[in-house]
Amino acid sequence: MVKLDTIISLAKRRGFVFQSSEIYGGLNGFWDYGPLGVELLNNIKQSWWKEMTYRDNIVGVDASIIMHPKTWVASGHVAQFSDPMIDNKTSKARYRADNLIEEFIQKLKNKNKTELAAEIEEKLEHAQVNEDYYNIILNYGITCPVSGSTDWTEVRNFNLMFKTFVGPVEDESGTVFLRPESAQGIFVNFKNVMDSSRMKPPFGIAQIGKAFRNEINTKNFLFRTREFEQMEMQFFIKPGAEKEWFEYWKEQRWNWYLSMGMKESSLKWKVHEKLAHYANYAVDIEFEFPFGFGEIEGIHSRTDFDLTSHTNHSGKKMEYVDTVNQDRYIPYVVETSGGVSRSFMAFLCNAYDEEKILENGKEDTRVVMRFNPKLAPITLAVFPLVNKDGMPEYAHQIYKDMQKFFRVQYDTSGAIGRRYRRQDEVGTPFCVTVDGQSLEDHTVTIRNRDSMLQDRISVSKIREYIQEKMY
Ligand code: GAP
Repeated sequence: MVKLDTIISLAKRRGFVFQSSEIYGGLNGFWDYGPLGVELLNNIKQSWWKEMTYRDNIVGVDASIIMHPKTWVASGHVAQFSDPMIDNKTSKARYRADNLIEEFIQKLKNKNKTELAAEIEEKLEHAQVNEDYYNIILNYGITCPVSGSTDWTEVRNFNLMFKTFVGPVEDESGTVFLRPESAQGIFVNFKNVMDSSRMKPPFGIAQIGKAFRNEINTKNFLFRTREFEQMEMQFFIKPGAEKEWFEYWKEQRWNWYLSMGMKESSLKWKVHEKLAHYANYAVDIEFEFPFGFGEIEGIHSRTDFDLTSHTNHSGKKMEYVDTVNQDRYIPYVVETSGGVSRSFMAFLCNAYDEEKILENGKEDTRVVMRFNPKLAPITLAVFPLVNKDGMPEYAHQIYKDMQKFFRVQYDTSGAIGRRYRRQDEVGTPFCVTVDGQSLEDHTVTIRNRDSMLQDRISVSKIREYIQEKMY
């Protein structure tokens, strides 16, 4: 299993991900995507968008990030979107109470104190109110990792939504939130979309967009950040059909990850025992990150909670009227909610490989990112074998021609073996090399990243060759 530090260092070195505002020391929980990162990110989003909306019954929206504040009252986020938080009075450090306990349990396990760990784990499992977390922390003498003291405040709720103000006056009346999920932008547009696009249940609305959560503990690179992107789809159905559609979307979403090259052995289901206030079935797809399994996507049967709540808070009916069968109902919803940035990190970890190879009779290790070609940031690299005898000009022309169809890179520097390696390390699936023979018979070699095998093909067939292997 690749180490997280290896992924972070490759991501920075090759321009996938940088710390946000790094020159000022970075900002915890925020990251920037570099030239290769943005390509991978866009490819993930584009593949998801095609998969979800290039079908009969799903359309897209792109709603604003800042929405009417009543949205978040109706959705339950104002009242319930909080984490239990505890402060240490000596160090002034703030922790999520449940995380603090989990870390303590892990330490006990590392010291083989399994009985005590199991006892606390059981208590944590049944903790429901803040006082339960507080009692565990106090009774087991859990200390602050910074100060080592047990001088704790009470456990309080900390709402995760970022607040800001609309208009020139910074008071309660202008207070708005950065959306903590993109889903509500879909719910409030349910009637608009249904009426304007003449959709009727079962149908879905998809959206990709940023979401913001003021997470207390950001950790593990892109896994838990304060600004991230989601790719969500709400599927509106007749009440009673939710189990059938839930199973359908579970299968569809699992298969999408496989079709994008995820190893099935790195994925698993997690069935929710404790359901969110709105859900009647919920599962997560988890990926095995270097730090263990973590959620990358949730599939939730949300009942009619959201549409009913928006009806009550807005006074606008969010129902479907079937004039043919004289039927009217508030649709139930099955949601698929994936994190773009989290799956970006999963795709990076999934692709990473180190392979022993023999080069010029010497054993060496090559780092190769085995991205599915549809996701790879660069599809094709073009090289002249040597920088003379007309080869650079010929190769550059191929590069310009192929740029109309693919993301292509042109590289002339260093020995050819080094150039292949540089492309392997960022997952480029195809490399074309122009050599002396190319100028005579208009053929080139095309090297496949995974097998390292080369085919000799006609220049006029490069596009066809790549497209055949990609789709
Ligand atoms: N609309 C439902 C919803 O937002 P969620 O489980 O809170 O459900 C869905 O989030 C997905 O969004 C997660 O599976 C994860 O991939 C991503 N996500 C949530 N919080 C995140 C964070 N702080 N950083 C990165 N990704 C996050």
